[in-house]
Amino acid sequence: MPSDQPAPVKDPVTAVAHANIALIKYWGKRSAEKNLPAVGSVSLTLDALKTETTVRFLSDGDKDHLILDGRSAGTEQVQKVSKFTDLMAGSNRPPVFIESHNNFPTGAGLASSASGFAALAKALNKACSLDLDDQTLSVFARQGSGSAARSIFGGFAEMKLGSDNSGDGDYAHQLYDENYWDIRLLVAVVSQAPKKIGSTEGMNRTAKTSPFYNAWIESSPNDIRNIKSALAERDFQKLGELSEHSAMKMHGLAISAHPSILYWQAGTMESIRKVWGLRKRGIPAYITMDAGSQVKVITLPEHCSIIKEALTELPGVTDVIEAKPGPGAHLITDTE
Ligand code: DP6
Repeated sequence: MPSDQPAPVKDPVTAVAHANIALIKYWGKRSAEKNLPAVGSVSLTLDALKTETTVRFLSDGDKDHLILDGRSAGTEQVQKVSKFTDLMAGSNRPPVFIESHNNFPTGAGLASSASGFAALAKALNKACSLDLDDQTLSVFARQGSGSAARSIFGGFAEMKLGSDNSGDGDYAHQLYDENYWDIRLLVAVVSQAPKKIGSTEGMNRTAKTSPFYNAWIESSPNDIRNIKSALAERDFQKLGELSEHSAMKMHGLAISAHPSILYWQAGTMESIRKVWGLRKRGIPAYITMDAGSQVKVITLPEHCSIIKEALTELPGVTDVIEAKPGPGAHLITDTE
């Protein structure tokens, strides 16, 4: 540990963080080294999808341990969390034992890095007695995964871009808490493809090869401005249209990379068409998608059951998960 940092606590510390869905998407980095996003983003934290992480510093041993959903994690994943732990605790720290569990189906292809790094940042903050505020935790979480910066906060969050490349100005902040507006997100779980291009790799390839990348960057501030006004006015149609447009624009951009990045499966297309059909019949439902084949439907509570029913009937959909606005990252044990 650096001499100016307090010694880590010996007792285990457990934190919970929830996954979030970007309404206005983050895709592209302006610096890979500090994981600085090239565009701002706006998200909704989801109550139904969470990661619980327990951190315990060990008094002996020389290596870190990571257990993910009951199994020892692979070398690459251990290295990633070791590096993240060094960042927060200093490289002189004792070895750490980290156990992390996602409550959502592991095969569902729902990004767990956002809730994972937000929970880890929150737990390490306590385990190392750092006493950092949420803004600083968001700066740290971002270095684990860009979207994790937003999962520090509940409800609706905005990821801001710093004015320089120090990284100190690239953090999320809460726009509205989880009680502000009861909108819903239905996740249509689509059968998994055997191989998937991760977000980081997908972003890098897109930035290097898409002829549309600059247009994506240039159009971003307007999207952020508009969604913030939709949120302020609680204008559901505007929120839905902007969210769907941002997702389609991001996927169009990925498709335009060379070689092309296509995250969709047959079930993805079926779900999109189904939701568009429902909307034609007057049901307020809009789609969004991340770096995977799942389709997420933004709607209002009174329309959930009809949409769920329609999606469940599709041959390419294996499950439908319902989520509402969820809380920010928090501790669930206290060692004091
Ligand atoms: C499509 O946060 O997973 O979900 O910073 O490289 O770890 P890294 O990327 P990550 O990217 C998320 C991309 C997205 C859109 C979003 O969540 O904004």
